[in-house]
Amino acid sequence: MTDIPGSDTTSRRDFLKTTTVVAGTAVAAHLFTPGVHAAENNTIKVGVIGCGGRGSGAAENVMHSAPGVEIVALGDYFQDKASGLRNRLMRFAQNDEQCKKLGNKVSIPDEACYGGVDAYQKVIDSGANYIILATPPGFRPQHLQAAVAAGKNIFTEKPVGVDGAGIRKVLDAYEEAKKKKLAIVAGTQRRHQAGYLETMKQVANGAIGEITALRCYWNQGNIWFRDRKSGMTDLDYQINNWYHFMWLCGDHIVEQHVHNLDVCNWAMGGPPARAVGMGGRTRPYNDPKVDGNIFNFFAIDFEYPNGVHMLSMARQINDCENSVSEALVGTKGTCQPNQYRINGKSVFRGRGIDPYVQEHTDLIASIRKGEPLNELKTVAESTLTAIMGRMSAYTGKAVTFDFALKSRLDTFPPKLSRDMSLPVADLPVPGKTELI
Ligand SMILES: NC(=O)c1ccc[n+]([C@@H]2O[C@H](COP(=O)([O-])OP(=O)(O)OC[C@H]3O[C@@H](n4cnc5c(N)ncnc54)[C@H](O)[C@@H]3O)[C@@H](O)[C@H]2O)c1
Repeated sequence: MTDIPGSDTTSRRDFLKTTTVVAGTAVAAHLFTPGVHAAENNTIKVGVIGCGGRGSGAAENVMHSAPGVEIVALGDYFQDKASGLRNRLMRFAQNDEQCKKLGNKVSIPDEACYGGVDAYQKVIDSGANYIILATPPGFRPQHLQAAVAAGKNIFTEKPVGVDGAGIRKVLDAYEEAKKKKLAIVAGTQRRHQAGYLETMKQVANGAIGEITALRCYWNQGNIWFRDRKSGMTDLDYQINNWYHFMWLCGDHIVEQHVHNLDVCNWAMGGPPARAVGMGGRTRPYNDPKVDGNIFNFFAIDFEYPNGVHMLSMARQINDCENSVSEALVGTKGTCQPNQYRINGKSVFRGRGIDPYVQEHTDLIASIRKGEPLNELKTVAESTLTAIMGRMSAYTGKAVTFDFALKSRLDTFPPKLSRDMSLPVADLPVPGKTELI
């Protein structure tokens, strides 16, 4: 990581200003100006990979984001989820006012609803030119590489990997995408959220002076658990209950807290250099093949290259103090980005455009303008930030960003097949689990 934007104050500010302008509504407004589209084929043909909660939501969001959108293919490990989403989207296209106003369509033939471990490749090969990646993040590096290799524009959900081996693949994909001038936007939607954009712009312009400390939380109650049904293979069970298996979710510091870590990295203009942290599991745990192998609490001290510290906490335990938030302390004041508040005053009122829609509006506008946005490196760095914190908590050791990036840890099973036997590693033990 030699070209991290913002290794000094001036470039950090320039980077933040640039980000704000590119991701703002100025780009979105351009989309609706007739006659300015640079792309030869103006129709955004969407293929969705991962048809669960977020994949379904993103499919509706893209149909609200711009005219000239057509959903053409769906893929899920479980075929019935792809077919179920097709039925819902056809009803949505017929009944939803905004979708009808924009003239957007759902044209998914029977044979373009794919299932199985290779469903992703079939969606990519289906004729779609805009791929939505919304599976559990363990698959993201493989799916990103395949979509970039095929020359597709991409909306990728966060996080974009679960270990250093995966992030290295993602950074390779980023370089290839840049060469091919592909557009990629990530589901770190705060970067497309009007209130965050205004707040972070003012921070970049010096509203709180130089940042001297940061903290962020994703503290919530227990997450869902999906029981094993009869007939399920190991892979079926683990994919369906993916949030409990490290190779699929990266643990919750990666899977959800990445949002808040990304905001802190945004404020600092790049990722931290080092992490020292701790964590553990209070949730009942007998057999990792049944219960999974993730922690349910983390507390990490991250240190940025300029010596500034960020305290991060992530917890999934019922009946505790909950908060999903960030706070910045500077030489001239304080900021709570998630409240759009600087020095005690609100800097943005109103709701703004739904950021889950705005991220597609910005992505599509950049494609049509011929000036592709590419957020893959930024989200890869924020994902690796979370991975570095998890590695420190699992082992009890200090972990640097460079070490995490070069790490030998590669959790993705070789040669996935539905019937394979899929052992699950034991829960890590700080002080005993090896740092690799
Ligand atoms: N940006 C946000 O605010 C936000 C919100 C929710 C979820 N997400 C992200 O979206 C992703 C999915 O989360 P979700 O809540 O939709 O989970 P989900 O369980 O509802 O859906 C995941 C879907 O992916 C499918 N799937 C799993 N492995 C697959 C594979 N190899 N190929 C094809 N399909 C596969 C599953 O069968 C399931 O239908 C996660 O990375 C999560 O972090 C982001």
